Amino acid sequence: MTGSEAHYEDGAYYDQAYRQRRHDVRFYTRLAVESGGPVLELGAGTGRVALAIAKAGIAVVGIESMSPMLEQAQQRLERLPRAARDRVELRQGDLARLRLRRKFPLVIAPFNVWMHLYTREDLERGFATVRHHLRAGGRFAFDVLLPDPVSLARVPSKQYRGGEVPHPRGGVRYRYSEYFSYDPVTQIETIMMDFEHPKQKEQSFCTPLTQRQFFPAELEALLHYNGFEVESHIGDFDGKPITDATESQVLIARLRRSSP
Ligand SMILES: C[S@@+](CC[C@H](N)C(=O)[O-])C[C@H]1O[C@@H](n2cnc3c(N)ncnc32)[C@H](O)[C@@H]1O
Repeated sequence: MTGSEAHYEDGAYYDQAYRQRRHDVRFYTRLAVESGGPVLELGAGTGRVALAIAKAGIAVVGIESMSPMLEQAQQRLERLPRAARDRVELRQGDLARLRLRRKFPLVIAPFNVWMHLYTREDLERGFATVRHHLRAGGRFAFDVLLPDPVSLARVPSKQYRGGEVPHPRGGVRYRYSEYFSYDPVTQIETIMMDFEHPKQKEQSFCTPLTQRQFFPAELEALLHYNGFEVESHIGDFDGKPITDATESQVLIARLRRSSP
């Protein structure tokens, strides 16, 4: 995952950091209900979306490569009512290599999972996995950030301060800041997330997050050349067109009839 494993080493921190992110959960849950299920989630993380889908009455298979994320998902799963719990199947695996002997009416990759497919080969493997698991007429839904030219032009040595963040274990309030660097050839942005301990320097730490950037027309071309047609390409989960104020581009695609 080109330097992003550290970002997914702490499932409790992940859940705390994104606990208010709900608009995407509602979007994917609605698609899941429309599909009738079962749903395949690639890059299921801590189960943020998968568990909501199960609570809405739809069976879901979640694939995740990082053990700490899966362990957090497992803990959350144990707190669900029995009926919802029985609808969730979590598996450790690499989405690029996944080959279940099952087809799904809906495959999803919520919250920037596709930004961890860094090269053309990674992307081809990811799309091949989706093609392999989609039922005829099924949908593939995912979202990635809209590249922000201001962010991509940031000076790598400049520190962007982000206030204080409490750690979920121990409650220490770290001083948080970020450094950004962007390689315009590979289109990979690296964000160094710096957590400074208020008193003990040796407790400070830094985690890199690397994300492949996708420009909108490029993403539609990638889908086309990997056998899909775009059903919708919207901004931020609310059905609005993409503008320069959009944060996430949200895509729903189907297999093209003449797909490879
Ligand atoms: C930003 S998180 C999103 C998690 C979840 N979908 C959500 O909405 O909260 C991205 C997840 O994708 C996982 N991931 C990245 N590359 C993967 C791969 N090749 N196979 C399986 N999981 C992967 C990461 O470990 C991480 O948990």
